[in-house]
Amino acid sequence: MGDAVKVVAIVGSYRKGGMVDQVVDEVLAGAAQAGAEVEKVYLLDTHVEFCTNCRLCTQTPGGARGICPIADEMARVLDLVEGCQALVLASPTNFGSVTALTKRFVERLVCYAYWPWGVPAPTVRSKEKPRRAVLVAASAAPGLLARLFTPVVKTLRQSAELLGASCVGTVFVGLAAKEERQGAGRRTLEKARLLGQRLVTRR
Ligand SMILES: Cc1cc2nc3c(=O)[nH]c(=O)nc-3n(C[C@H](O)[C@H](O)[C@H](O)COP(=O)(O)O)c2cc1C
Repeated sequence: MGDAVKVVAIVGSYRKGGMVDQVVDEVLAGAAQAGAEVEKVYLLDTHVEFCTNCRLCTQTPGGARGICPIADEMARVLDLVEGCQALVLASPTNFGSVTALTKRFVERLVCYAYWPWGVPAPTVRSKEKPRRAVLVAASAAPGLLARLFTPVVKTLRQSAELLGASCVGTVFVGLAAKEERQGAGRRTLEKARLLGQRLVTRR
């Protein structure tokens, strides 16, 4: 598997086998079909603490991410991301935004910014985007409304960009809470599989 493209999915859903997870699995299946090596990280199972706003990670200039003093699994996840060529970032819509689980991870990405105390806004350390990303989201509301009136896709896209990835597509599943265990529709799955392939083949 030495030269295989590596795809890492980061899942911010609380439900394994839920809508977001099903779609992520299909994106990964498409990528694997195109020859990728795939790995899924459930934030639910990963020890990621809240950012404490100590800002130590933002004080030193340079292109590499700043060092966070919190001893948890965040560094392991970020090493995994930095070693991959493609990403899947996924979250349901909860209370009009990404899940708290996702947001906790996203706030820790501040280590990719240079932001000394006294400066009003951060500067992204690197504008390079060597990776590709697919974004996955779901909502009880119709997808178009949720995309228009929530920042879910924007948050996932900003996160992808901080992680050095440009987005090749988004699967946003609306009306995803009609049943407790709702299966993803055929067209959703087709789109997810195609985007998974695109993560690997359109380089
Ligand atoms: C606490 C909570 C808040 C939610 N807030 C919203 C919301 O603001 N807008 C929306 O369209 N759906 C909302 N939903 C519905 C979820 O987005 C939807 O059930 C989604 O499919 C969950 O993803 P999953 O299937 O991967 O678990 C909410 C669900 C929960 C449990």
